[in-house]
Amino acid sequence: MTATLDPAAQAILRHNDRGGYTVPNGRVYPFQWNWDSAFVALGFDAFDRDRAWTELETLFAAQWPDGFLPHIVFWKDDPGYFPGPEVWSSGTQPRTSGITQPPVAGTVLRRLWDSATAAGDGEAYRPRAEALFARTLAWHRWFAQYRDFEGRGVVVAMHPWETGRDNSPEWDAPGEPIDVSNVGDYVRRDTGHLDAKMRPTKLEYDRYLALVQYGRATGWNHAEIARSNPFRVADVGMSLILLRANRDLAALARELGREAEAAELDALIARAEAGIGWLWDPVRRTWCSRDCITGLHSGFVTSASFLSFYAGLEDADKDAAMLGHFERIAARVRYMVPSLDPDDPGFQMIRYWRGPVWAVVNWMIGEGLAEAGQKAQAERVRADTRAMMDQTGFYEAYSPIDGSGSGGDDFSWTAAIRLAWAREDERCA
Ligand code: GLC
Repeated sequence: MTATLDPAAQAILRHNDRGGYTVPNGRVYPFQWNWDSAFVALGFDAFDRDRAWTELETLFAAQWPDGFLPHIVFWKDDPGYFPGPEVWSSGTQPRTSGITQPPVAGTVLRRLWDSATAAGDGEAYRPRAEALFARTLAWHRWFAQYRDFEGRGVVVAMHPWETGRDNSPEWDAPGEPIDVSNVGDYVRRDTGHLDAKMRPTKLEYDRYLALVQYGRATGWNHAEIARSNPFRVADVGMSLILLRANRDLAALARELGREAEAAELDALIARAEAGIGWLWDPVRRTWCSRDCITGLHSGFVTSASFLSFYAGLEDADKDAAMLGHFERIAARVRYMVPSLDPDDPGFQMIRYWRGPVWAVVNWMIGEGLAEAGQKAQAERVRADTRAMMDQTGFYEAYSPIDGSGSGGDDFSWTAAIRLAWAREDERCA
């Protein structure tokens, strides 16, 4: 089964395995991250099924009683990271952060289940699937209650880190009113490991910390945060990812014979389908995030804008507009899909979420385009991602202009995407 699977990618996952969970990168990110672990599980599933399931189980072991699933789990201390567990002060065991991350785990769980059943392991894995299904559903209910408090069918992010696209320009205008005057002195660790040109600015970091302080002051009371957080932005990425994950979870519910839960998930899907048009900017003709406080669209075309296909939205006019953006951008860069439109004046080819290409986002975009019948575009995304990996290795992200690495090397989720695709190719061969 593993003959053509990339051995270097497998070695990265083994190397970054800390026993039950995988760190994104040993130096820069020494803990368990939420959506990283979901993608990592997809990678492990290509060569070690049991270990893949364990990755999700370890992540969900840190779930809070209200269903919340944290963006970082601090299983062990590590002084090389800031802000660490004492800054977050979650008051939980294990210690965690107080915000969440894009909900890809439900989609991955369905993939793991499909792959186990296809291999004839369905009965052996059923109890684990049942347990993870229940936990994922609890998390999705938490989203509906605390991150969609107006019932719009979107996900309202309370922190740029929650979106997983930390310094996207989508957060610039909504971040302006955040009061940073009491943030105080602190020492960043990320810029000690990596070139500051690839990282968020000091002003952005001050805002990140001010929001952590705000949430901590509420005792991470999710209801109070939903009412009064100074940053409340309906994130197009998380909204589309949750819609997709709800579809996958509903399908899994039916396979597991859980009709009542399937109907509940159908209702969440219907709510999203009815409301998600709120994130369509009719002026810029793109899917984008929207500030819930001011009501303003960001107007940016980002890689997250292209997740509409992955979410299973079908709308001929909007799809055509997005495919138009795709062709325009594809003619401007060597490697698709840049995290920010290269025609935007703020485009920076190596600064994190203001230009670089991220393999995990490409995986989702590629899946969506292929499912929507856009085969040529799907293949371009996949071939470009592979070419960057071949040229540069498994970096955190890549320049869309020349494919050079941005951020940390030997990155778990990048290696995982390579393995997920390699396994699919083996199946189709
Ligand atoms: C950065 C990324 C985020 C990711 C984390 C760990 O913060 O922006 O999406 O989860 O690193 O890799």
